[in-house]
Amino acid sequence: MTQGLTRKKSISAALVNGEHGLARSLSGLDLTLLGIGAIIGAGIFVLTGVAAATKAGPALSLSFVVGAFACAFAALVYAEFASTVPLSGSAYTYTYVTLGELPAWIIGWDLILEYGLACATVAIGWSGYFLRLLAGLGITLPAQLVGGPLQGGYINLPAFGVMLLISGLLALGVRQTSLANGLIVVLKLAVIGIFLFAAVPHVEPANWQPFMPFGWEGVMAGAGLIFFAYIGFDAVSTAAEEAKNPQRDMPIGIIASLVLCTLIYIAVTVVLTGIAPYTSLNVSDPIAFALSGVGERFAAGATAIGAVAGLTSVLLVMMYGQTRVFYAMSRDGLLPKAFSTVHPRTRTPARTILATGLVIAIAAGVLPIHEVASLVNVGTLAAFIMVSLAVLYLRRAQPDLHRPFRTPFMPWVPILAIVSCGYLIASLEAVTLWRFVVWMLIGVALYFGYARQRSVLGRA
Ligand code: ALA
Repeated sequence: MTQGLTRKKSISAALVNGEHGLARSLSGLDLTLLGIGAIIGAGIFVLTGVAAATKAGPALSLSFVVGAFACAFAALVYAEFASTVPLSGSAYTYTYVTLGELPAWIIGWDLILEYGLACATVAIGWSGYFLRLLAGLGITLPAQLVGGPLQGGYINLPAFGVMLLISGLLALGVRQTSLANGLIVVLKLAVIGIFLFAAVPHVEPANWQPFMPFGWEGVMAGAGLIFFAYIGFDAVSTAAEEAKNPQRDMPIGIIASLVLCTLIYIAVTVVLTGIAPYTSLNVSDPIAFALSGVGERFAAGATAIGAVAGLTSVLLVMMYGQTRVFYAMSRDGLLPKAFSTVHPRTRTPARTILATGLVIAIAAGVLPIHEVASLVNVGTLAAFIMVSLAVLYLRRAQPDLHRPFRTPFMPWVPILAIVSCGYLIASLEAVTLWRFVVWMLIGVALYFGYARQRSVLGRA
């Protein structure tokens, strides 16, 4: 029973084992673009509105600063691991080589929640923006095709369709994916530039008063919600086996994408709450809405297109992360072998991608998944805490290990990551925490019922 708790992979053996299979084609710039592709999405384009109107008011920019601190600590920890153990599987793999198989399984199971549900949530958000664009062209879909059975329809067809398209693209190859992602990221950044350019002349400082209508508690509640906006820099680390020079480029990709997105978020929220009263922002397209409100119709249309593109790249990278976690877990024998079979021509785990894509597409197509979005936050925060514990442990257990990137100010940075992520978890609703506990208990049962017996390490 305790065997799985203690057995660990050796880092050197794991590195040798990782030297085949996936194609190494991503540069430092590709990885940074991958990070930005994953980060800027529903958090800024959709959730800022409700967070400003109901949680933080104009002080939402402070919520983004709070979220950025928690993520910055975690990013430095991820960067050390991603450069030291540059293997597919991210937090799952880091935990496997440090804390052992059971904690690794738990984190892998947790990452499935993070990436899978994030995809489904963003696909539904995508569908909302897409329908708005269609409506602008005078096209409306029948009500049965824009919501699942629980919303009185048959299926959310745009959400279902976009997930299938994304999966097809990912199955084609990682080079194509990264190319498509790069183009989308450029478009997304251009649209944010248009927003700032068009909106700044309309800023009314009176809109920033009162600055903190819901007090510091509101700022923290806002931070708990908009934490979703930062999720994604960790997905960069799932690409470690496809990076040309992971030791150098992983820290660059993780830290550069986070810093850039933090600056963008703070600029966008300061300007957004400056051009519209925060009370008016409780809508699903706050950025386009606020621009229309000040008469900038062209810019509003452009930002709506940018949001659709932006959400598409989030889907692409989150889905990518999901399949790579499956890949790593299957290679270790904890999931069926089919999850790590690489297609000979595309050199991607094509079958896994298509099967996973179909399951998430069905979930996105039929479930009203909005209320489980905060489950994504809790899953991610838990992974950040686990990786921080793992880095602390590894520094003590293997002080002489070659670490191309070292987390600065040890042990304070991982400790601050644990405290700040724990604080954000505590600010979430109890029902979310319960759902998370249930998901984790199912995971533990699966480990003892299936994975433990099939583990490659265990059988060896
Ligand atoms: N950070 C990603 C988003 O905001 C998940 O959509």
